[in-house]
Amino acid sequence: MRVLVTGSDGYIGAILGPDLMKRGFDVVGCDTGYYSAGWLYPSPDPVPMSIRRDIRAIRAEDLAGFDAIVHLAELSNDPLGQHDPDITYKINHEGTLSLARAARAAGIRRFVYTSSCSVYGAANGDYEFVDETTPPNPQTAYAECKVRVEQDLGAMAGDNFAPCFLRNATAYGASPRMRFDIVLNNLCGHAMTSGEIRLTSDGTPWRPLVHVKDICQAIRLSLMAPEDDIRGQIFNVGDTDSNYRVIDVATIVSETFPGCTLTVGESDGDNRSYKVGFDKIRKVLPRFRCEWTPERGARQLRTLFEAIHLTEEDFNAAPYTRLKILLQNKEKRLLDSELCWTLPVV
Ligand SMILES: NC(=O)c1ccc[n+]([C@@H]2O[C@H](COP(=O)([O-])OP(=O)(O)OC[C@H]3O[C@@H](n4cnc5c(N)ncnc54)[C@H](O)[C@@H]3O)[C@@H](O)[C@H]2O)c1
Repeated sequence: MRVLVTGSDGYIGAILGPDLMKRGFDVVGCDTGYYSAGWLYPSPDPVPMSIRRDIRAIRAEDLAGFDAIVHLAELSNDPLGQHDPDITYKINHEGTLSLARAARAAGIRRFVYTSSCSVYGAANGDYEFVDETTPPNPQTAYAECKVRVEQDLGAMAGDNFAPCFLRNATAYGASPRMRFDIVLNNLCGHAMTSGEIRLTSDGTPWRPLVHVKDICQAIRLSLMAPEDDIRGQIFNVGDTDSNYRVIDVATIVSETFPGCTLTVGESDGDNRSYKVGFDKIRKVLPRFRCEWTPERGARQLRTLFEAIHLTEEDFNAAPYTRLKILLQNKEKRLLDSELCWTLPVV
């Protein structure tokens, strides 16, 4: 199967591309390279050839010969989305729709979309689990775009087009294109470089977590599943046992990094809290099993950080916090207000 992976130079893409190649998929990447300055460590596996292109510029004729698209290329978290909601809608909602229309026009049947459990927003995490049947309650432009894409692409599903929607929990774990702006990775970075974790909140909100390699497993199984099983379907990606309070995650991390201290703050009014059920994916894609736990993921990061001698400077480097590097490049006018590169080809 020939697969185009958009966002191939991102955190998930840098694991997914090599993983699919190893398993016999013919993979081509596509990425505009917002974070290409950030390689925390060299990829241990061969990476696919990648086209440097903005998804907003992709047309049907660019997609000839592909059997499937895995679409990762979006502004990838709430703070990024909130910084400029307008551009978030343009890339994450309109850009994705335009790519999906081009895919359908090019005769590509499969479109695996990486949605997010953040669509559940302010659910009452203390009392109830949410699942794919629960009405979404998005709190941010990022989450709102995910909901709109699921609805609009869902409506495009038909005999010749089988999109599916993976609502990933918050990812963690090692990737050469590291992100330190997601909770477990961030806490591990603090634990390693300063020996202390200071939660600025009381850490009570619930968040489901999933290892980046388990996300890749879900994507691969979605590509291989019978079309009728996944057409227009939404799946939460994670494990029902992997719902944690932020304070629990911080405790796991502090216990993994010897000597690390942990202090807790006060409620910060962030009302995003959700405990998620993950039964559906195991019913429809029966081979799916999360192979990782946050404990194992924290140990993986400790081993990695020790091997590469992670410094505070590495940890704070702009490309690993997505919003930081985008703002820097906007300030330098390397990116314009539409987040398009301004550099002439020289
Ligand atoms: N990492 C998580 O915790 C998580 C959880 C749920 C869902 N997701 C979703 O998975 C996808 C990938 O996440 P990630 O963590 O790898 O993000 P990331 O920010 O590390 O990677 C996104 C990649 O897409 C590229 N990109 C962004 N806009 C583009 C555009 N207009 N044209 C071409 N390339 C563009 C960026 O350059 C980057 O390399 C995103 O859609 C994200 O919303 C991630």
